[in-house]
Amino acid sequence: MLACFAVAACDPYSEVRDGLNPADRERFARGQRAATPCATCHDFAGQAHKVGPPLLGLFGRRAGAIKDFPYSAAFRQSSLEWNDRSLDAFLANPQAVIPGNRMLSPPMTEPGARSDFIFFLRTLDRQSMDTGAESS
Ligand code: HEC
Repeated sequence: MLACFAVAACDPYSEVRDGLNPADRERFARGQRAATPCATCHDFAGQAHKVGPPLLGLFGRRAGAIKDFPYSAAFRQSSLEWNDRSLDAFLANPQAVIPGNRMLSPPMTEPGARSDFIFFLRTLDRQSMDTGAESS
């Protein structure tokens, strides 16, 4: 698909994936595929601001909490906290969960894809805490 661009490695997550057991590896790979359309607008592995805010370290954070990111008023005023349940609901129907938000992305309608995506993001979070990458 269009995951490979510029000089970036085609698969930036191969190391993370290799550290998982076989079942988790499959699940991570499915979540990574589900995340492909999101990567145009979101950084999953660092803190880069793209069209959307970085998603590394999302869990436990309030919606709209990245400093200096130009969120919509809808996001800034939201008191939603990100956990598996709120993220699942948001991905299924972004406009229902935070009405008036500016994320122009179709809903992830398939529950299995949402669950795999959440697993993918949680795995990256855990990995970055192990290596301390998130604090840099
Ligand atoms: C066209 C660009 C674009 C695409 C594609 C996109 N997003 Fe977003 N996303 C945004 C923007 C912009 C915001 C902030 C919206 C606002 O301020 O109203 C956002 C916000 C978010 C947030 C909240 C982050 C926070 O800091 O509170 C999550 C979670 C999220 N997106 C997940 C996803 C996922 C998962 C996908 C893929 C299914 C995706 N996005 C696809 C642009 C995008």
